[in-house]
Amino acid sequence: MRVLRTTSLLPLVAALSSSDEAPHAKRVAIIGAGAGGSSAAYHLAQYAAEESTPTYITVFERNSYIGGRTTTVNAWDDPDLAIELGGSIFVDVNHIMVDAMRNFSLFPAEQNLAAQLELPDLGIWNGQQFIIVTKASDTWWDKAKLLWRYGTAPLWTNRLMKSVVGKFLTMYDGPVFPWKSLSDVVERVGLLEVTGVTGEQYLKSNGIGDSFAKEVVQASTRVNYASNLRYIHGLETMVCMATSGARQIKGGNWQIFDRMLRFSRSTLHLNTTIARISKQRDGTYEVSTSTGQVSTYNEVILATPLQYADLIIDPAPKYIPDEIPYMKLYTTLFASPHALDPKAFNLDAETPVPATVLTTLPPAEEPVDGVGSPSFYSISISGAGVNPLSSTPRREFIYKIFSPSRVNSTFLSHMLGQEVSGKEAEHGDADGTVSWIYHKIWYSYPREYPRVTFEEIKLDEGLWYTSGIESFISTMETSALSGKNVARLIRDEWINAKGETASGRVGKDAEVLEL
Ligand SMILES: Cc1cc2nc3c(=O)[nH]c(=O)nc-3n(C[C@H](O)[C@H](O)[C@H](O)COP(=O)(O)OP(=O)(O)OC[C@H]3O[C@@H](n4cnc5c(N)ncnc54)[C@H](O)[C@@H]3O)c2cc1C
Ligand SMILES: *[C@@H]1O[C@H](CO)[C@@H](O)[C@H](O)[C@H]1NC(C)=O
Ligand SMILES: *[C@@H]1O[C@H](CO)[C@@H](O)[C@H](O)[C@H]1NC(C)=O
Ligand SMILES: *[C@@H]1O[C@H](CO)[C@@H](O)[C@H](O)[C@H]1NC(C)=O
Repeated sequence: MRVLRTTSLLPLVAALSSSDEAPHAKRVAIIGAGAGGSSAAYHLAQYAAEESTPTYITVFERNSYIGGRTTTVNAWDDPDLAIELGGSIFVDVNHIMVDAMRNFSLFPAEQNLAAQLELPDLGIWNGQQFIIVTKASDTWWDKAKLLWRYGTAPLWTNRLMKSVVGKFLTMYDGPVFPWKSLSDVVERVGLLEVTGVTGEQYLKSNGIGDSFAKEVVQASTRVNYASNLRYIHGLETMVCMATSGARQIKGGNWQIFDRMLRFSRSTLHLNTTIARISKQRDGTYEVSTSTGQVSTYNEVILATPLQYADLIIDPAPKYIPDEIPYMKLYTTLFASPHALDPKAFNLDAETPVPATVLTTLPPAEEPVDGVGSPSFYSISISGAGVNPLSSTPRREFIYKIFSPSRVNSTFLSHMLGQEVSGKEAEHGDADGTVSWIYHKIWYSYPREYPRVTFEEIKLDEGLWYTSGIESFISTMETSALSGKNVARLIRDEWINAKGETASGRVGKDAEVLEL
């Protein structure tokens, strides 16, 4: 029987300073304070408290901030204008994110920006024309006309998405959760057929019409994963169509991970790079920072893609994650008082460009493993505010562009229909056409090519890996789920080991006994 509830025990566990650690205390190192590492810390702290296992969690993060690929940048350095630079949207079916938002009393950001700016919401541009434009004021008749042109494809795509997402959601609870192997669980929940084919093949084999696939679904895979349908697997394609309840946290999604770390009572070391993990004879790990600080842990959770972690694991673990191609994505945020130029989108001068412009390929263009003729993946208005640096205050739009190469003055001049100087395109100019600009290169997510096997979660005894999930689905939610899964696997091992030492029983019995 459990007497103490999670929350009441947490402060107690954490109140013990490391000098008076309980004799059988567990020491856990987490490398990476992104979605995966923060969730692992949060959930492990909860599990440990439930099982009364004294646990000391230390999180190492080489950046100066929490959140990893989920982070914000302040336009003109104004903290009231925090713009998402990486992971920006989560949806209703992202249960960990949604629950965390509620539990931590965080609020969704306002969403009616397009309406406030009196612009159409969304357009799909194929480099020659807008195929679709939607407005908040659309009547059901407008919407019906839009869908009419695709026959039953939207309906069937929605059903297909629901069935696929339904299978994915079984991974959250017993008996499927926790999973020791991603390859096995993907097969078990029936998603192998979906990850093993391209989005193009998957839609076709399910009878979804070509024009809906290429015009609408592909616009979504391009904005979300910088990928055309022929180069992304079926599951990631369906994830792009699960948009119900899309939202972001006011002030930044990273706050969810900040709260998770705080509630876990972990020790957090920012600006701290782990350079080496070495397994000792007794099965513990020595973890060394790049400045030569060494400490010892029972478990190490690697919560970042190993190929970019720049660390040595010594000796080599049983399983070493493969190096895989990641998308090199240019994300550009900039502010300008000017709207997008209708001429750049072959519209007449009076027709406003939608607040969000997604792209797809024109009908005759063979899909490439790249951006194709539209030359960018998306451009959208992410915010609006008063430029505090200009000589007279100006109300400006804050734009976000996803592109495969660095955004330059030629491109910006074309988009705004105004001269943008080379200097402005690099650094902005408070009184210029572009008053503020921020360039970022991300290795944003894997190229989501079809695959049927996935990286191991347990790389070795006591060494865990959360990032293999990114080849399956790469989102804030799935990284958080992967962190939670690892936390639960660790907890289960501890319980089994306890059972074995206490009574020589096998793990399964011990678990029953414990509960
Ligand atoms: C432009 C962009 C748009 C996106 N849009 C969305 C979206 O709309 N919705 C969504 O759900 N997802 C989106 N994503 C994906 C989402 O952001 C990621 O899947 C998620 O944030 C990954 O979390 P993670 O914890 O697995 O990895 P990361 O966030 O990368 O965290 C790993 C951390 O480990 C640290 N680290 C690495 N090596 C070391 C070391 N040696 N020592 C110490 N620390 C180390 C890194 O600094 C990093 O902070 C987007 C991503 C990008 C880049
Ligand atoms: C991390 O480094 C940055 C800049 O290098 C610095 O501004 C910040 O204060 C540091 N943070 C911590 C917690 O040491
Ligand atoms: C949110 O709170 C509920 C109820 O206490 C709990 O079951 C759940 O694990 C919490 N989730 C997160 C992500 O905080
Ligand atoms: C500017 O970017 C475009 C792609 O958007 C590219 O075609 C062009 O060569 C670049 N121009 C310069 C001067 O780098």
